[in-house]
Amino acid sequence: MYRIPARIMAYLGIALLAVAGLGFAAYAIGFGARGLALDLSQETYLYTPGGMPTNLAVFSHMILGGAIMGLVPLQLIGRVRARHPRLHRVTGRVIVAGAMVTALGGLGYIASRGTIAGPLMDAGFALYGGLMLVAAVQVLRLARAGAFARHREWALRLFVLIIGSLIFRLHYTLWYLLTDGLGSTPALDGPFDQVQYVAFYLPYLAALELWLRRSRADVPRRASSG
Ligand code: HEM
Repeated sequence: MYRIPARIMAYLGIALLAVAGLGFAAYAIGFGARGLALDLSQETYLYTPGGMPTNLAVFSHMILGGAIMGLVPLQLIGRVRARHPRLHRVTGRVIVAGAMVTALGGLGYIASRGTIAGPLMDAGFALYGGLMLVAAVQVLRLARAGAFARHREWALRLFVLIIGSLIFRLHYTLWYLLTDGLGSTPALDGPFDQVQYVAFYLPYLAALELWLRRSRADVPRRASSG
């Protein structure tokens, strides 16, 4: 039987993730723009009637979150970084600023309205926003200090956090396809939902830390064998 080579499978996986990411980014930007322009109180609980600051926080976080999700893959392409360093710097600043406003918008919404499922989900999402703020500050600070190895590590952490929002939806899509939503409720307070409060970023950050640790250990080994 013909087997698809692993490399092709990896490219297919990346292409699928890119399509899903762009689709979700467009959805988030559209949702955010409608929330800022229209009264969506009949459509979503995320809209607060007469609550301009809360609406500004949650809907602008969607617009900026969608924008940085669309932009962030560009930063990972080595050829773009090498050939167009100015573009890398400008896009990087836009992403860092966008990530800060996205995180602050999400945190502002949690502080003013709270999430649909209450304190546990508030805590999981607040930690998510807090980590995004820390990563964005570190990326900028280390680039300015010329500490490029550490800048790269924080940029990868920020990347994982930015696509976390997409991963959250992908977990749900896969789970509903496989189990028809076992352990998940419309109020997002079932056992499956409760795991998701952190499962869309913590395991991926942990995997990244392991990979970074191995890559750091490999550098002296490669240098001494070369
Ligand atoms: C990284 C890019 C992000 C994008 C594209 C994004 C997008 C969205 C979208 C579209 C929604 C509406 C729900 C839906 O239709 O699925 C939403 C809800 C929400 N987001 Fe984000 N988001 C991002 C990052 C963040 C961050 C960093 C926080 C952290 C504080 C956050 C906190 C929230 C909260 C609290 C809700 C409402 C949850 C609820 O009660 O239903 N988001 N986000």
